[in-house]
Amino acid sequence: MRDKTMKVLQVSAEIFPLLKTGGLADIAGALPAAMSATGCDLRVLLPGFATILQDLQDAVVLGQVATPWGERFSVRHGRLASLGVAAYVIDAPGLYLRPGSPYEDAHRQPYADNHRRFALLGWVAALLGQGLDAQWTPQVVHAHDWHAALAPAYLAFSRERQRQRVASVYTVHNLAYQGVFAPQHFHELGLPDAAFSINGLEFHGNISFMKAGLFYADRITTVSPTYAQEIQTPEQGCGLDGLLRTRRSALCGILNGVDAAVWNPACDKLLPFAYDAHSNAGKARCKAALQAEMSLAAQPRAPLFGVVSRLTEQKGLHLVLAGIDELLARGGQLVVLGSGEGWLEAALREQALKHPQSVAVRLGYDEALAHRIFGGTDVTLVPSRFEPCGLTQMYGLSYGSLPLVRRVGGLADTVVDSTLEDLAAQRANGFVFEEFTADAFTRALRRAFALYARPDEWAEVAKRAMQQDFGWKASAQKFLALYRQVTG
Ligand code: ADP
Ligand code: GLC
Repeated sequence: MRDKTMKVLQVSAEIFPLLKTGGLADIAGALPAAMSATGCDLRVLLPGFATILQDLQDAVVLGQVATPWGERFSVRHGRLASLGVAAYVIDAPGLYLRPGSPYEDAHRQPYADNHRRFALLGWVAALLGQGLDAQWTPQVVHAHDWHAALAPAYLAFSRERQRQRVASVYTVHNLAYQGVFAPQHFHELGLPDAAFSINGLEFHGNISFMKAGLFYADRITTVSPTYAQEIQTPEQGCGLDGLLRTRRSALCGILNGVDAAVWNPACDKLLPFAYDAHSNAGKARCKAALQAEMSLAAQPRAPLFGVVSRLTEQKGLHLVLAGIDELLARGGQLVVLGSGEGWLEAALREQALKHPQSVAVRLGYDEALAHRIFGGTDVTLVPSRFEPCGLTQMYGLSYGSLPLVRRVGGLADTVVDSTLEDLAAQRANGFVFEEFTADAFTRALRRAFALYARPDEWAEVAKRAMQQDFGWKASAQKFLALYRQVTG
């Protein structure tokens, strides 16, 4: 019976559908329902960004909290209307109510007070662990990514003020974003001096929020089994592989799921036509609609490739640029939705101008268009340099847009190449390449064209992809088991 009331506080900076810059939000938005289904009593703690405050219903002020650097803010408790989940929200307008990105100013520079803005998230998590809400104290604080990573540290240093030991779980969504700050800010964080050491959050003379999470959490998870191994190597450890190796008995990879309430072509209101694995006439109509919307040539038999991505180095999109001539020469079309680094945006835009019938590029962030792209394309390209889990390849699979990916991180755990062998074994669900080179990418493209030229086999692979189960059930059970372990 105890599991029914396992009290978990989920701490993250983003949550879909209220605030999203990447996959973290999708996961933070899906976990509450997934964990409730296992019987957990999960509540969320979030910074008071405008969209989050607006969504908070029946809010009461729990109390004022004093920050370590001497400001005072109130914490509100209510229910997020869009998610139907109990929430604590830090009402700190001076810190969170800024136009644009939650992390950066208009010049794409990180805000100078990000250490305070996100330390406060961990600080309030630890206060909830000490009874800030007299009605509800978490048994487990589950913190996500560097923004929430001071929570395990604050919990570790407030044990004597906890009525019952509050356990911590820290999930790494991307080791490359670490939240590193100059050492002079350490005194603002309200941690004992001992924390600023190699056995603590000190990292090459700076403060690392990520390291705090990795060092102080009772358990560490990351978002795919392969990434859990990769981050223990110097190549992918971002300087933290040594620490991760010493903590390997506390580390595991739990694959992200797909939220079927949001990503399901059979009932996706953002798609012009519905379809599923058994009747996919709607998919062809989605493709025609996408070609029309993007002013691409109306060619039902031109393989349509899609990219929905942050345009950063991580995502390996220069490989797509390198392969574009071959893609077009073979009669393919390409649609890209993304935003990010200027040079990539410019290079993509140039391709669209050069080939208006075959290449369409939309720069910016557009949730609804992302759905239409998965719905309308034949192939989803994810040629990442590294990829902790990756969600777009799973959305591609669910929407019958076969993923073409590099064998790395969560991509390696979810996509099986269409080799003759794996086709025969009825395992293939996409296209996979190994080396991070234009040549390897282009050869995978050729495999995609080769399969596309055999419509029956393509249809079989697409059907298998769409029938795969990437639901949250299995992963939610793994989190529950982990919460049980840490609460002993
Ligand atoms: P990451 O978190 O590294 O960006 P993921 O594949 O885990 O990569 O998640 C990316 C999420 O962000 C997906 O939900 C994807 O559809 C969405 N996304 C990325 N770029 C855009 C964009 N420009 N417009 C709309 N959605 C986007
Ligand atoms: C990160 C990773 C991505 C992962 C997402 C959700 O942003 O880059 O691979 O899918 O978090 O866990």
